[in-house]
Amino acid sequence: MDSLEQLVASAVQDFMAAQDDAAALENAKAKYLGKTGQITELMKGLGKLDPEARKAQGALINAAKGQIEAALTARRDALAEAQMQARLNAEAIDVSLPGRGRAGGGLHPVMRTWERVEAIFRSIGFEVADGPEIENDWTNFTALNSPENHPARSMQDTFYIEGNDTTGKPLLLRTHTSPMQVRYARSHTPPIKVIAPGRTYRVDSDATHSPMFHQVEGLWIAENISFADLKGVYLNFVKAFFETDDLQVRFRPSYFPFTEPSAEIDIAFGSGPLKGRWLEISGSGQVHPSVVRNFGLDPEKYIGFAFGSGLERLTMLRYGVNDLRLFYEGDLRFLKQFN
Ligand code: DAH
Repeated sequence: MDSLEQLVASAVQDFMAAQDDAAALENAKAKYLGKTGQITELMKGLGKLDPEARKAQGALINAAKGQIEAALTARRDALAEAQMQARLNAEAIDVSLPGRGRAGGGLHPVMRTWERVEAIFRSIGFEVADGPEIENDWTNFTALNSPENHPARSMQDTFYIEGNDTTGKPLLLRTHTSPMQVRYARSHTPPIKVIAPGRTYRVDSDATHSPMFHQVEGLWIAENISFADLKGVYLNFVKAFFETDDLQVRFRPSYFPFTEPSAEIDIAFGSGPLKGRWLEISGSGQVHPSVVRNFGLDPEKYIGFAFGSGLERLTMLRYGVNDLRLFYEGDLRFLKQFN
């Protein structure tokens, strides 16, 4: 029976020798358990024995076969386990590593101002309107009392679009948000109480002017809206916007074709880095009767005020930014400070 024990030992040894290659293990299996394997051959030899011996010998061979099969299964499992371990190690994810992630985005400072302005005016009952940046000549200029060839137009040189509108007049990038007064008033019935923030364009470029910039237009038209309402509304706005009562607001006489009287609005801060300096933030005035007529309304009945303020201007004052171009350079070191 030594030979059977040796057979088992040699099978175990062969199985152990089979490394990570499944084929090697199958070959080793065939050597013992295959059709012409050694155990199979021994089984075949049983037929030559007499019944008594066959029974005894058969039991021994079966026991050896069982041991070999058990060794085979154990080796198979061990190899599969080792393979799985190797794979797990190779594909391991270090969950303690900080994620690559993305930096959180943030609102551009001018957009912050835009949103604040909307929130403040909404809180006192103004609608918010939006309109086209490509305007026609009539809405941008003529309806606002700047007839063709009027010298006031030269203050607002802009970019013209190739081709004309349906009336044969040129199309242009709007030079201010004031055409929104006309658009909104012509499509709504009084009382009209609206702001219209948006992008505007001019041929201008220096520390305080950019060819594209932002304004917010305001318009309140009803039967009894006076210059005093303009003062009240605007004062309320700047106090809310700058979050302080410690400022002075002055209305300095000025000229705009679409208002009469017209004023520029300056503010001076009582404290802080801008203390005592008057800074212009807006044009304003009582809407000119001809413009009210162009709204499609009777100037004998309807009266009110308008203003147009620069959003960059408001942003610069609020945050103490001294060069407008910083807003458009996309420098993250600058932009991150606002978020
Ligand atoms: N549209 C003028 C500009 O761009 C600003 C302005 C002045 C708007 C007076 C108004 C206004 O509504 O009443 O410079």
